[in-house]
Amino acid sequence: MQIIRDLAVLPAALDALRGNGERIALVPTMGALHAGHMALMTEAKRLADKVVTTIFVNPLQFGANEDLDRYPRREAEDAAMLEAGGCDLVWMPSAEQLYPPGFATTISVAGISELWDGAARPGHFDGVATVVAKLLIAVMPHVALFGEKDYQQLAVIRQLVADLGLGIEVVGVPIVRDADGLALSSRNAYLTPEERRRAVAMPQSLIAARDAIQSGEAVDAVLARARATLEAAGFSAIDYVALCDAATLEPLVTLDRPARLAAAAKMGTTRLIDNLAV
Ligand code: PAF
Repeated sequence: MQIIRDLAVLPAALDALRGNGERIALVPTMGALHAGHMALMTEAKRLADKVVTTIFVNPLQFGANEDLDRYPRREAEDAAMLEAGGCDLVWMPSAEQLYPPGFATTISVAGISELWDGAARPGHFDGVATVVAKLLIAVMPHVALFGEKDYQQLAVIRQLVADLGLGIEVVGVPIVRDADGLALSSRNAYLTPEERRRAVAMPQSLIAARDAIQSGEAVDAVLARARATLEAAGFSAIDYVALCDAATLEPLVTLDRPARLAAAAKMGTTRLIDNLAV
């Protein structure tokens, strides 16, 4: 597995990987890899001949009071996991190379970026869209893979790729969960053992809400109950518990089309998100 830091040597390394028209998959990550990322790798290997992974903790997608400084950085462990997972090339760009002095472009995906996490974290999806556009353009893979845990991010990236006509297939990979149901996230590492125990209320409240909605209960009552369950478990700063259209993410008051049930809230100082198909 080749590890590249310098943008200047990336094009030649990618040319060599492409060889005689090999199909390339890109798995963009911020590192601190876990089994959810490895599921992206597994799917990438199924869909392509060669897999490129990026590791970059993107400062543009963190708000001023968010966790950029304490975001876990585990380069050596990440590289070992990627090598074992069959990754062919890891690109670990520096912030200086991606955003050199004078960098002045922001990619903003209107509409879908403004709902839910976009409302709770102003500028977050502009940061995601900008870095993902840069990574996609630098690598120009045939296919790029993203986890469904960040379901809105996936929708934003689908829109971005379509709007810019990049001709890259965007694939969402199902959430990987711990045995008790908590969605894997690099941020779970922030939870104390007691918070980790309580955090399972998030998937549990979503499963209960999904079952109640599917059995015909009124959506607003179900969402209110899920919110109360989260509060009772010790969640605070609940940004949303919502049923939304699976494609547009617009809020739904009745289940009349494919939908997604999603929640975001803080356990202690850690903001967790989760979602389920309904
Ligand atoms: O999901 C992530 O890890 C990040 O948001 C991404 C897509 C790598 C962009 O920085």
